[in-house]
Amino acid sequence: MSTKVKISNLVKIFGDEPDGEALTLLQAGYSKDVIRKSTGHVVGVNDANINVSEGEIFVVMGLSGSGKSTLIRCVNRLHEPTAGSVFVDSTDVTALDPKKLQAFRRDSTGMVFQHFALFPHQDIRSNVAFGLKVKGIDVDGRNEAAERALALVGLSGYESSFPRQLSGGMQQRVGLARALATDPDILLMDEAFSALDPLIRRQMQDELMAIQDQLHKTILFITHDLNEALRVGSRVCIMKDGAIHQIGTPEDILMRPETDYVAEFVQDVDQGRVLVVDTVREDAAVVDENASVADVLRVINDLGVDAAHVTDPNGRPLGVVTREAAEKARAGGTRELGTLVQTVSAVTNDTILAKIYQLFGSGLPVAVVDGDGRLIGCVRPLEVLAELGRVENISEELEAAKHQGTQP
Ligand SMILES: Nc1ncnc2c1ncn2[C@@H]1O[C@H](COP(=O)(O)OP(=O)(O)O)[C@@H](O)[C@H]1O
Ligand SMILES: [Mg+2]
Repeated sequence: MSTKVKISNLVKIFGDEPDGEALTLLQAGYSKDVIRKSTGHVVGVNDANINVSEGEIFVVMGLSGSGKSTLIRCVNRLHEPTAGSVFVDSTDVTALDPKKLQAFRRDSTGMVFQHFALFPHQDIRSNVAFGLKVKGIDVDGRNEAAERALALVGLSGYESSFPRQLSGGMQQRVGLARALATDPDILLMDEAFSALDPLIRRQMQDELMAIQDQLHKTILFITHDLNEALRVGSRVCIMKDGAIHQIGTPEDILMRPETDYVAEFVQDVDQGRVLVVDTVREDAAVVDENASVADVLRVINDLGVDAAHVTDPNGRPLGVVTREAAEKARAGGTRELGTLVQTVSAVTNDTILAKIYQLFGSGLPVAVVDGDGRLIGCVRPLEVLAELGRVENISEELEAAKHQGTQP
């Protein structure tokens, strides 16, 4: 995938003389805190390097004050970067003159904020068409584009309503529709869903992902909520004190946190809502339906597991036979599997783990099947639970390493 937005060595310092002593100190490695105390300048972004691929939802996540808004505002120069560069395609945004900058903002970017200010005395259609009016598009073209954008966010039929007649969630949709109406390449979304109730918020996340599937915009999405970040992001960037701690897929962040800060964050996440079956799938011990008890015990022993899956001639799962049941049957002189086969559920690779926890109660491995229902592996409850516990251990290890490193 090609790079759409390339942010290189970006620094933003707030204060009277941002590129003076404060920048020198920052480049010499002094912390945000030291720089504030000695120069009165505030470090907003500290040496950020990010490549956002075309068509991805790139999420910047961090606590309040970590520099997320400053970073996103440097992309369209609502904040003037102190050092470094921002490229969109082959355009050096940092080098645009005021006129070209204005055209760039209008034509290439759309912004959505947490509290979206709609014009109270204009109907929804005019609110959404606002950006098109600025672009000089005639009234028919504007209305058509506005209606199309409203349909995308599920608000067809509300064109003639006024903002006060809409709920907070719906107003936020209008904000998103306004940003989409001008058909920009890049959407900049700064805590766009943060003020919404959890249920509405999830709906909006789902819709954003659906819109993304349809339109393939490049989206820079900011949130202070790691669950939201991991849910909507194709990649997630974790920031603290203006600096980037880690950039990776949601799975990278969850399974392979690179700093103790990230690891600590990850502990509070319900990983089962993010990780899918594919990440924990293992090879299954498999026998066909005509296999004997001895066959089952052989594959179980070969793989060192506790149960084997039985499949039909098309490779579809029929159930499992446990080691315990097979050994008992052998001791009793039984050769056929028959009643030893216990039914288990089948899931697909893209199922989130939270949806299969209730299948773990039996302790039996859950069958994983492909689109044609054929067995491609299994999920073993105990191993999954161990995997989910592993991140806490990583966190403790990184924490311990840090303390060791700082000891004299
Ligand atoms: N206009 C400004 N003037 C001075 N300091 C600012 C300004 N905007 C942001 N900051 C400071 O920059 C840092 C990053 O802020 P911000 O980007 O708003 O964080 P976030 O969006 O992650 O909450 C904070 O320390 C904040 O106080
Ligand atoms: Mg912010």
